[in-house]
Amino acid sequence: MCGIVAYVGPKDAAPILLEGLQRLEYRGYDSAGLAVVNGKSLKMRKVKGRVSDLAEAVPARFKGTCGIGHTRWATHGVPSDVNAHPHLDPEHRVAVVHNGIIENADALRQRLEAEGVTFESETDTEVLCHLIARAVKETDSLDDAVRRALKSIVGTYGIAVVDAQRPGEIVVARNGSPIVLGIGEKEMFAASDVAALVRYTRQVVHLEDGELAVLRADGFHTFTSDARETAKEPFTVDWDTGHYDNGGYEHYLLKEISEQPDTVARTLRGRIDDRFHIAHLGGLNMDARETRSFRRVKIIGCGSAYYSGQIGAQLIEELARIPADAEPASEFRYRNPVVEPDTLYVAISQSGETYDTLAAVQELKRKGGRVLGIVNTVGSAIARECDGGLYLHAGPEVSVASTKAFTSTAVSFALLALHLARVRDLSPADGRRICEGLRRLPEQIEQILKLDEQIKTLAEKYAHSPSMMFVGRVRGYPVAREGAQKLKEISYVHAEAYPASELKHGPLALINPDMPTVAIVPDDELLDKNLTTLGEIRARSGRILMIGHRAADAADDCVVVPKNETELDPILLTIPLQLFAYHAAVALGRDVDRPRNLAKSVTVE
Ligand code: F6R
Repeated sequence: MCGIVAYVGPKDAAPILLEGLQRLEYRGYDSAGLAVVNGKSLKMRKVKGRVSDLAEAVPARFKGTCGIGHTRWATHGVPSDVNAHPHLDPEHRVAVVHNGIIENADALRQRLEAEGVTFESETDTEVLCHLIARAVKETDSLDDAVRRALKSIVGTYGIAVVDAQRPGEIVVARNGSPIVLGIGEKEMFAASDVAALVRYTRQVVHLEDGELAVLRADGFHTFTSDARETAKEPFTVDWDTGHYDNGGYEHYLLKEISEQPDTVARTLRGRIDDRFHIAHLGGLNMDARETRSFRRVKIIGCGSAYYSGQIGAQLIEELARIPADAEPASEFRYRNPVVEPDTLYVAISQSGETYDTLAAVQELKRKGGRVLGIVNTVGSAIARECDGGLYLHAGPEVSVASTKAFTSTAVSFALLALHLARVRDLSPADGRRICEGLRRLPEQIEQILKLDEQIKTLAEKYAHSPSMMFVGRVRGYPVAREGAQKLKEISYVHAEAYPASELKHGPLALINPDMPTVAIVPDDELLDKNLTTLGEIRARSGRILMIGHRAADAADDCVVVPKNETELDPILLTIPLQLFAYHAAVALGRDVDRPRNLAKSVTVE
């Protein structure tokens, strides 16, 4: 999704902006651009293509110590040089970069055109640029001009604006699209993602929706939309540039899959209490009495986060015996949900910025719901909006497809389920069993990663299938859904996930030798039922790749993973499917880390 970088200080802005834009490449984009203020004039370059293309287009003498940069992911208008940001007014006085969507852009464009304004691009952002350029002539401060222009805007935005008449000043504003300020030594940065800042500073400040900030080399001021100054407390991010390097791996995705023994260990660190066999989750901000009072748990998230929420709902029901279910946040927010006081709501997000999930949390809060967040990005919008929660501590995910955040979320749910269960009826003995199971996970993930060569061979064998079916029962079902999701998003092989028991109610008609099935078959109380399903597939000449705890004759190929406690098995069963999707995508020559049409963090509706 689009990215923003801004710099003001003593140094040349262009190299800093280009480096920042490179750090944002992982989010997905189709064009890039930057503008710097030099004396009292603006210099601007923008191109369709990569940040490296932009770097080539920027001449050596592109001087200016204050500037803004952007990577664009097309929404209004095709990817092109002219639609790329920044957008400038006809006098080349104001430059604007923008993330988000201006919903009333068409109406504003018509109004401006009727007043004689000529547009160069098809974008919504150019509308905002013209509005700001008009307002700067009517006021003596850039932030006031931006504030006036934003009053006409309906929609979401994260923006950065410079005015050639005010060198040394940048105005940024946020509404639904993240903006974070970075505080340096006599220099200031801003970006849509800390990834662009950590090379220069770890001291950051997040803007809230409706906030605006004025940056100068010697510091910053933040304001509400009606110009009241706000007080902000900077905090230190603990991610550094090392987290954003590929660590010698061919792809970030493989690096992130391989990191899981460590990331799961980090999610668990300091959270297991061996005396009472409970989980220590101080961030929940709930005492035992309150924890006991919930009669239902509702989990919301999008995409893979939602599938990990399904694993979470099953863990909570099984261990704590509280009715729990997961729902896509994007559906939940639009269906006017009934919000109950004795329901615990849990929002999941790796980025902490997914717009649908954030909007669902805001809807819940507005109706008085109690919302916990299971979030990876410290200080992100969803984390700030929730009443409490757990951080994953998985480190940043750079590859678009989620892997380590998925497993860390499932592990966090195991901790939350243990916590909810041990204030209810789960016995100390069962508590101990789960604690010991959790501790075994990093070592067992290590063992699964050693199956890489076998899984690669299998992926190469199956990758050329036009379509694949993924099936699992109960605990295996969310694993199947996540397996199908990984395969389709990075290899573009069509994949469908079904509960194994549902096959005979329809999709069995699809089974033939060209549509292999990946079957998730844990060694649990449903093993026999799953083996019967394999027999049914086999009888229709379907090929079967089984992921389980022992080999089965009915399957053509088996990947055998270590067994843990039954409730925790889904976490381990997911990992071979990540490797399978990765190797299938490589075998098909896909752009593994940047799959087509997708963005890392979906900050639009
Ligand atoms: C899939 C994937 C997406 C995200 C979803 C939610 O690999 O990455 O489905 O899981 O967009 O993103 P977050 O967790 O950042 O809210």
